[in-house]
Amino acid sequence: MKKIKKAVFPVAGLGSRFLPATKAQPKEMLPIVDKPLIQYAVEEAVAAGITEMIFITGRNKRAIEDHFDKAYELEVELEAAGKMQLLEFVQNVIPKHINCIYIRQSAPLGLGHAVLCARPVVGEEPFAVMLADDFMDTAPGQPPVLAQMTEIFSREGTSILAVQDVLRAETGQYGIVSATPYQPNLERVNAIVEKPAPENAPSTLAVVGRYVLSNKIFDYLENLGKGAGGEIQLTDGIAALMQAEPVLAYRYSGQRYDCGSKLGYLKATLAMGLKHPETGKAFSDYLKSMK
Ligand code: G1P
Repeated sequence: MKKIKKAVFPVAGLGSRFLPATKAQPKEMLPIVDKPLIQYAVEEAVAAGITEMIFITGRNKRAIEDHFDKAYELEVELEAAGKMQLLEFVQNVIPKHINCIYIRQSAPLGLGHAVLCARPVVGEEPFAVMLADDFMDTAPGQPPVLAQMTEIFSREGTSILAVQDVLRAETGQYGIVSATPYQPNLERVNAIVEKPAPENAPSTLAVVGRYVLSNKIFDYLENLGKGAGGEIQLTDGIAALMQAEPVLAYRYSGQRYDCGSKLGYLKATLAMGLKHPETGKAFSDYLKSMK
């Protein structure tokens, strides 16, 4: 069974829901307490045994490349000032054995198109797709969500989508699957549709931003026309893939925060602020003191 070694991070999106904060910086660089969203996603990939991080970037996204690179001036300054702990943070943003690969998506043609841009680097292997604005938190001792999925992949050897139940009123924000039970927390996908209106949604089981995909998806993405919103949709590629190979939906263990929305971002900040060793206690006391 092939292991998942490569993860694709589509990060070319404009982040218009966070303007003006995202006018000159990528939305993936917004911090939750002290780490940018993209770093949490990369750490989740590392924890799943992934070694090749493939970023599909666009204009205005230079900060992501800089974040995972050396920062000579900063490192020299921190060392000279004897700020060794900060120096360690800066030098260990990413483990040494990890490779970062950057591919530019020159036009915003959709998530399916972004994933297709990774084809020359992914090659013939199965791979993961991670959407950094779906921030995933797990309880202590529990494997991170992508590691849960790669573990299932090592058993099942087929594409897996992370899913959760959403309110019917929200189906228009997600890829929605209809599925039949297969194993505990694991279902077989029979149909998938991108952002259906509540009255047309086949269920309320929504795909969130973690995917393990067979490389055959590329053949389908290559031949897709525009889908929902006039974009080349990953969901439509999965719908085509499903005709040839089984696709599973996995109800992951963990808490997802939709950091593509202001409210989800605030909730994630609250949760992580309470957990952070530096701020947790004081933040909790402060919240208790509020009405
Ligand atoms: C994308 C996908 C959608 C998925 C969602 C998860 O939508 O197209 O199928 O359910 O991510 O966050 P976006 O949030 O980019 O509009």
